[in-house]
Amino acid sequence: MNSKIEVAIVTGAGQGIGLATVNRLLEDGFHVVMVDRQAEPLATAAAGLKAAGGSVEHHALSITDRAAVAALVAGLPRLDVVVNNAAVFWDGKFDTTSEDDFRKMYDVNVIGTFIVMQEAIKRMSRGGRIINVASRAYLAGYAHAAYGTSKAGVIGLTRSSAIDLAERGILVNAVAPGLIETEMFRSLTPERQQELIAKQPTKALGQPEDIANGIAFFANPRTQNVTGQIMTLDGGRSMGISLY
Ligand SMILES: NC(=O)c1ccc[n+]([C@@H]2O[C@H](COP(=O)([O-])OP(=O)(O)OC[C@H]3O[C@@H](n4cnc5c(N)ncnc54)[C@H](O)[C@@H]3O)[C@@H](O)[C@H]2O)c1
Repeated sequence: MNSKIEVAIVTGAGQGIGLATVNRLLEDGFHVVMVDRQAEPLATAAAGLKAAGGSVEHHALSITDRAAVAALVAGLPRLDVVVNNAAVFWDGKFDTTSEDDFRKMYDVNVIGTFIVMQEAIKRMSRGGRIINVASRAYLAGYAHAAYGTSKAGVIGLTRSSAIDLAERGILVNAVAPGLIETEMFRSLTPERQQELIAKQPTKALGQPEDIANGIAFFANPRTQNVTGQIMTLDGGRSMGISLY
């Protein structure tokens, strides 16, 4: 690999928004390091991209495994961009959410993101760009006590780390997707899917490519002087209309 080519890690890269982001960063000229804990879909996606001439490599690991993340980062020739996209999601009313489920979601969505960020910055001696994938759900949402709290955690992590890392030339921003047509959305019942679409000002679902486009803005080396910001890509749902 040409040492002048910028390297980007994308977590949760095997499907959905992560895979769309990989495609977009390849178009934008990055070498992309694909990470996912599901080995098989990840390998299949990476093989398809390689066959089409994409500059990718793939690593099956969990973002909660600090040793595995550290080994991956240490083995890269350089690191310029990290997209923290991997997350877990399930609906659950506050009164029936177990402490165990609450901890499990927090462990991946917040602590996993924290681990990847902390290991990644060790290789960002020349500066870098970190993009965390939050969710509009950080504002509030029906049956989102655990998920919304975890994504509010991602926002807090983004904004506070942006302050601490600014003097090292590392920009930290987030995107907050609304309803996006992926497996995560399809895991909801058809009735709940229709109910949620009806609440969108646009009456439409977003596509993974819409989120990849926002991520690509923050990942672009020409995007400077912007840090600690949240780009909400949600069909207008966050403008103060009913959130549940
Ligand atoms: N789809 C939506 O409507 C929507 C809305 C708002 C925010 N988001 C956020 O966008 C991101 C991507 O969502 P998606 O819909 O593409 O999800 P998805 O479930 O389709 O894909 C998530 C990927 O992350 C991987 N992953 C999960 N836990 C992991 C771990 N511990 N280590 C490594 N990989 C792991 C999964 O294997 C999967 O491939 C997530 O952060 C999600 O919370 C999605």
